[in-house]
Amino acid sequence: MTYLMLTGGRVVNSDGQIDADVLIRDGKVEALGNLSSLEIDDMQRVDCTGRLLLPGGVDVHTHLDSPMMGMTTADDFESGTKAAACGGTTTLVDFAMQTKGDGLLGSLENHRNKARDKAVIDYGFHMCITDLYRGATDEFAEIMQTGVTSFKVFMAYRGTLMLHDGELFDVLRASSKVGGQVCVHAENGDVIDRMAADLVAAKKTGPGSHEISRPPATEVEAVQRAISISRMADSPIYFVHLSTEGAVAAVSEAQSGGWAVAGETCTHYLTLDRALYDQPGFEAAKVVLTPPLRGKEHRDALWRGLRGGTLSIVSSDHCPFCFEDKKRLGGDDFRLIPNGGPGVEHRLSVIYGEGVMQGRISLEKFVELTSTAPARQFGLFPRKGAIAPGSDADIIVFDPNGRTLITAETQNQRMDYTPYEGWDLPGAMTAVYSRGDLIAENGKYVGAEGRGQFLQRATL
Ligand code: URP
Ligand code: ZN
Ligand code: ZN
Repeated sequence: MTYLMLTGGRVVNSDGQIDADVLIRDGKVEALGNLSSLEIDDMQRVDCTGRLLLPGGVDVHTHLDSPMMGMTTADDFESGTKAAACGGTTTLVDFAMQTKGDGLLGSLENHRNKARDKAVIDYGFHMCITDLYRGATDEFAEIMQTGVTSFKVFMAYRGTLMLHDGELFDVLRASSKVGGQVCVHAENGDVIDRMAADLVAAKKTGPGSHEISRPPATEVEAVQRAISISRMADSPIYFVHLSTEGAVAAVSEAQSGGWAVAGETCTHYLTLDRALYDQPGFEAAKVVLTPPLRGKEHRDALWRGLRGGTLSIVSSDHCPFCFEDKKRLGGDDFRLIPNGGPGVEHRLSVIYGEGVMQGRISLEKFVELTSTAPARQFGLFPRKGAIAPGSDADIIVFDPNGRTLITAETQNQRMDYTPYEGWDLPGAMTAVYSRGDLIAENGKYVGAEGRGQFLQRATL
């Protein structure tokens, strides 16, 4: 048996905070409280006086080693999970893409093999469906039994990733029958494709056109349509990466009607402005993400949605492509720029700085949005998402008086840029523990290789 005690810190959970020592036995939290008189042979004590002890982050939206728009995302399970760990995230739920011509179970196995022995933090998967071949929904029960209890569907990218409305209905209905949930990328892909073609025909081929081709209405319409379809299918629905005021309103209205509709937004929609598309040269390609960044009125609505509970989760949508590759592939036509950007490493620092320290959310709400709620939504709570007896000892030792400077040069993500270049944020993660193992110190990975475990997730 191994014992570790984090002494003198302030434990912050989503439902409150207390000054407490944390006793960890064999990777699990054993007890919290005033444990100073406890004597255990060979127990290591770590002084955490003046520090906050936060549950490790749970990021339920990442794309590691994943095929996308003719490329593979730049971080694999080793670099991506190390970067996550350095930024305080100790659990991921990553998207296992169905690859062209492959079945769901085969694609899932493929993705599992990419993570095995490489991931350094614990991980689960969502099954991403890009081709609903005959018999695909019959595989849902078996997929659920492997502990993969959620599916993802795209309403955009016709010809590669998109399912049409009838297929979305099929997926929702079949998933709900086996107790799964469906994550939906809601954008009206066909309208976007036409607007994008018009822009190219008008010789507006630069990266800034990405935003113009995906106006807010393309998200709002798709969210409204998907909610209607989920009601017809009598299924819960979860929206990934919501970016607009209208989407928040649509989700809120459905929730008021008692429907099981949940939504996340992402770090970048809360903190970056659409003005980045107006930069000269090819710079805007760094924020060619889908949906695109929006203006202040949308950001304010997203923060309000999080505070009021309409939106419940902040994810990273870490989908990294190097700037060099974006340029090489999409230099002549913005439609060919791989969509996505990095974020798994900086989600917690940015949301703490812009959320807690700017007075937009409380510290407890920060824990809820970045750890507890995602763990709950995706069947990982209370093993993950809390510092409580019986939970995995996934703990961030956080110095509220420290600072975190974000630069491409010092980041752990395998990327040649970060959209947060030069951001100097309050607070610093001085140590990160995963199942009681010290895995990161002051932004550097110090844990063992390949130590991450696959997480069998429960149903909703
Ligand atoms: O901008 C992103 N992330 N695009 C691709 C993956 C996704 O979630 O749609
Ligand atoms: Zn998406
Ligand atoms: Zn994504």
